[in-house]
Amino acid sequence: MRFKRILGIETSCDETSAAVLKHTDKGIQILSNIVTSSASIQTKYGGIIPEQAAREQIKAIIPVIKESLQQAQCTSEEVDGIAVTQGPGLIGSLLVGVETAKTLSMVWDKPLIPVNHLIGHFYANWIGSWQVRITLPQFPCLGLLVSGGHTDIVLFTNHGQYQYLGGTRDDAAGECFDKCARLLGLPYPGGPQISQLAQLGNPLTFKLPRPMLDSDDLDLSFSGLKTAVSNLIDIVGVTKQDPRLRNLCASIEAAIIDSLVKKVIKAVQIHPVEHLIVAGGVAANPKLAKELRKALPGIKIHIPPPSLCTDNAAMIASAAFFQDKTVSYSKLQADPNLSLAN
Ligand code: KG4
Ligand code: ZN
Repeated sequence: MRFKRILGIETSCDETSAAVLKHTDKGIQILSNIVTSSASIQTKYGGIIPEQAAREQIKAIIPVIKESLQQAQCTSEEVDGIAVTQGPGLIGSLLVGVETAKTLSMVWDKPLIPVNHLIGHFYANWIGSWQVRITLPQFPCLGLLVSGGHTDIVLFTNHGQYQYLGGTRDDAAGECFDKCARLLGLPYPGGPQISQLAQLGNPLTFKLPRPMLDSDDLDLSFSGLKTAVSNLIDIVGVTKQDPRLRNLCASIEAAIIDSLVKKVIKAVQIHPVEHLIVAGGVAANPKLAKELRKALPGIKIHIPPPSLCTDNAAMIASAAFFQDKTVSYSKLQADPNLSLAN
């Protein structure tokens, strides 16, 4: 491993995050992981306004980087490399992180490591190995990414080597949580809101669709679920004050999780592995963890702690430790369309 200490920068959506991570023979340790978000501003509008998110990130990026170095008690000389999210994400937001990282790379004369945000999410599972977790993920392993913008199933055979197996054909799992929450008048981001209310509800109350459950491939679809919820609200008129809201939240959560778990079971049948790595904001959902563990008792399931499931720079730095590819500051371009499929 080339780098011992990496500064990570992540600005793909509404978060501005910087982290310093150290790699030793015992594992990867977080020295600092600062995450600020404009979510409280975005909440007012029920979703993210890209230009507004980027404007907040321009203000936040330098103080956040300074704080991450300070908290890590690390000077710029002690940083071996700068890892930054290259994409995918909102172009204005990505540019804030990428251009800042390029400038620091030039001024500090440090290598620049571009990281695919989606791969970064998976590498939250390699953090804190010797203190928090007994076993690290082993290859080959299946990966389930469930975030606000992506829902993908991949097969990892080694670091940097993976095969895309399937994913959503329309909305992402997190997006479905967010859109259903919005229909119900709940604030953004909707996943944690629905999840919390669902704990007190009965998931069998409302019958909601699980599209593509029986398809032969590993693809998923969530837009029909959102439409079904919208129709249901029109017919039965569930509102924010309605006591049946909890039951509807529980039914929505169950439908999303059921779809995900069934496709992961299918993936394991096709590609028998001993390890599954789960990543992305929806991985913070406790019911998803519970249902995956129940459905796959013979498989070691790795899920990061909630703070490392949602967007953060520590996961970006973690991925960079396993990636040899560096790029000159004069060549790096933000790429909003990066994916796992190509
Ligand atoms: O990975 P992430 O922070 O950002 C993206 O890269 O998209 O994921 C954010 C998504 C949002 O859709 C949010 O509603 C969802 O993760 N989320 C959850 C939970 N916590 C966050 N969904 C369900 N249950 C949760 N506890
Ligand atoms: Zn993300």
